[in-house]
Amino acid sequence: MDEKEYAKHIDEIVELRHYFHQHPELSNQEFNTTKKITEVLNNWGVKIIPTKLDTGLLAEIKGTQPGPVVGLRADIDALPVYENTKLVFKSQNAGIMHACGHDLHMSSLLGTIRFFQDHQDLVNGTLRFLFQPAEEAGGGADQVLQKDVLSGVQALIGFHNNPNLPVGTIALQPGPMMAGCYKFDIKIKGQGSHGAKPEKSKDPIVVLAAIISSLQTIVSRNIDPQDAVVVSVTHVSAGKVWNVIPGEATLGGTVRLFNLKDAAIVKKHLIELAQRIAAAYEEKVEVIWDERTLPIANDVKLTQAVINNLSIKVQKPVLSMAGEDFATYQKQIPGVFAFIGSNGKSDAADWHEPEFVGFDEMLPIGIQYFVEGTLGLLKYLK
Ligand code: NI
Repeated sequence: MDEKEYAKHIDEIVELRHYFHQHPELSNQEFNTTKKITEVLNNWGVKIIPTKLDTGLLAEIKGTQPGPVVGLRADIDALPVYENTKLVFKSQNAGIMHACGHDLHMSSLLGTIRFFQDHQDLVNGTLRFLFQPAEEAGGGADQVLQKDVLSGVQALIGFHNNPNLPVGTIALQPGPMMAGCYKFDIKIKGQGSHGAKPEKSKDPIVVLAAIISSLQTIVSRNIDPQDAVVVSVTHVSAGKVWNVIPGEATLGGTVRLFNLKDAAIVKKHLIELAQRIAAAYEEKVEVIWDERTLPIANDVKLTQAVINNLSIKVQKPVLSMAGEDFATYQKQIPGVFAFIGSNGKSDAADWHEPEFVGFDEMLPIGIQYFVEGTLGLLKYLK
């Protein structure tokens, strides 16, 4: 395929990208975004398959020959961030921003649909295009699965733009790509007293401090040094005034990892340390452990099929400690996920930062990855 084919409708796709960037919407509130995508697909004469989703949608293109069903996924939601860029198409919705570049993802998917409409003869099978809501707040992929939106899909392909990589690069590999993401909360229950009468208290602040210190040993003393695992305490709360020892204290944070066996190890030690430290001070704790997203793990054979069919040289990825709910699909549907360079400047802001900028020039690469990757999957699954 001549690479110019991927950029044939690029002016229209860039215009759409700017529209989405100017009109970002939070998770589960992507009503205008869904309406816009629907309008565009209706104008193009693309079939939209009815689903039970409140936001987001599913479109379909059938090839000229029967064959396997491949799903292509882009997320469509934005973040509660005040945009601080100099883009002429910056957000018009104050306090909401496409700071993760999902505008690039959905525009690339639209460009891919446009391509396949011109080239249905290349498709031996059926393509289902998923515009997924609520990736950021979590739960979007779960909704899609619970509402049976992807029934019949045999393989799924997706990507995340990556501002740390220059435009023109694609990074992927079989196996891990992005971290599993867990949330924990620990509530310590002691006994409050006057600040001048500590003997009458069971001071939860002392327990809080001891727990925080001990959590630092979970990774260093229990995890195989070859594995990457993060345990971060990100918020604490206890007391309100200078002369009262409070009765309760809370702390919480996140755990990131790539190997599921490490999740079990971290969970066990986190709960036991909290309980035993509290018991030593005659206090009680409640620990909540919440699995948010699993690690993204690319299917080995499907990933090879995608890589073999890409005409862009593929780089080995730097694993990301961020989480992505594409992993949720991979529990049920084997999938392939890549990073596509969207900036690459040495001072490029990262995902979720108010200064985040992804370049329009990424879009033809996003389309090329989707097209060539999908055709690779169709060939393999046939
Ligand atoms: Ni994202």
